[in-house]
Amino acid sequence: MKTVRIHEYGNADVLRIEETPVPQITADELLIKVHAASVNPVDWQVREGFYKDMHMHTLPLTLGQDFSGTVEKVGSSVKGFKIGDKVFGRPTLDRDGSYAEFIEVKANEVALMPNSITYDEAATIPVAGTTAWETLINKGKIQKGQRVLILAASGGVGSLAVQLAKNRGCYVIGTTSKSNIDFVRNLGANEVIDYTSQDFSERLTDIDCVLDTVGGEVQEKAFKVLKRGGVLVSIKNKPNQEMANRYGVRCEFVLVGPNAHILNELRNLIDMGQLHPVIDKVYGFNEVKQAQNYSQSGKAKGKIVLEVSK
Ligand SMILES: NC(=O)c1ccc[n+]([C@@H]2O[C@H](COP(=O)([O-])OP(=O)(O)OC[C@H]3O[C@@H](n4cnc5c(N)ncnc54)[C@H](OP(=O)(O)O)[C@@H]3O)[C@@H](O)[C@H]2O)c1
Repeated sequence: MKTVRIHEYGNADVLRIEETPVPQITADELLIKVHAASVNPVDWQVREGFYKDMHMHTLPLTLGQDFSGTVEKVGSSVKGFKIGDKVFGRPTLDRDGSYAEFIEVKANEVALMPNSITYDEAATIPVAGTTAWETLINKGKIQKGQRVLILAASGGVGSLAVQLAKNRGCYVIGTTSKSNIDFVRNLGANEVIDYTSQDFSERLTDIDCVLDTVGGEVQEKAFKVLKRGGVLVSIKNKPNQEMANRYGVRCEFVLVGPNAHILNELRNLIDMGQLHPVIDKVYGFNEVKQAQNYSQSGKAKGKIVLEVSK
């Protein structure tokens, strides 16, 4: 099968399209024929060696997290899936990934795909969608009527987070740059702040929940806008607990992994027309370098798709 692998860490030039054997599955696994993958920042971060010190990878490594596809083989102890089912999901970060014609995954990391969307669209949901759900709903515990601030609302996570918070009946505020203001408003945001010309921390107060996808100084400023008892959930870096104590708020850092339960919730919302995948660009398998470079530019507006097979 064809795969995109790295044999060393580095820039996009270390990406190699190679032939490798189709993986074998164990009793609790599925073999998936991948139709589409999506390109997440974590893919190029792994390629650059950001996770090298955690010793979770053995090189050569197949990159990629998100996938959509069809079940090709079912492990002997797996229940609930059959050959030919359309599925979507992501493996754990330590395993070979989804930039490949086939991927073997634990059955509990996979869910049936929404009926109402394409393979390309479905591939954009697992990482960004489970992250938006885990941060806002499980950790942020957002409720109807609350004021929710999404930092980088035009990104892969942000574009789904805005929709989820809106769907929960929240008043949603998003930050983005000028050219994406209408885009974020059309996702459902009540207010959009251009971070290049306005300081959101001087304009906002009484926020119940901040989803921080930016980190650093932006995260520190975000503490100021929370009401007492509010919560800051970051997917970027561990927030400063002393600062949280000073402002009387809760803070958390979350590293989100595979979660079939959340995928099922997202499928229901998508099939009810209440959550829409947002695709920015679609690349062919041979254009993987361009796809990763675009992700690394930090300018993606929604998600980037890598088509593996048609
Ligand atoms: N911890 C976890 O489990 C987890 C899970 C998923 C993602 N992440 C991390 O979260 C981050 C975001 O992921 P993503 O997939 O959403 O990234 P992405 O799609 O690459 O984000 C790109 C977007 O970020 C916006 N942006 C950049 N800097 C900004 C700023 N200072 N203020 C507001 N918007 C800004 C850009 O808007 P403009 O073009 O308008 O500037 C662009 O639309 C990445 O670092 C990723 O690695 C972590």
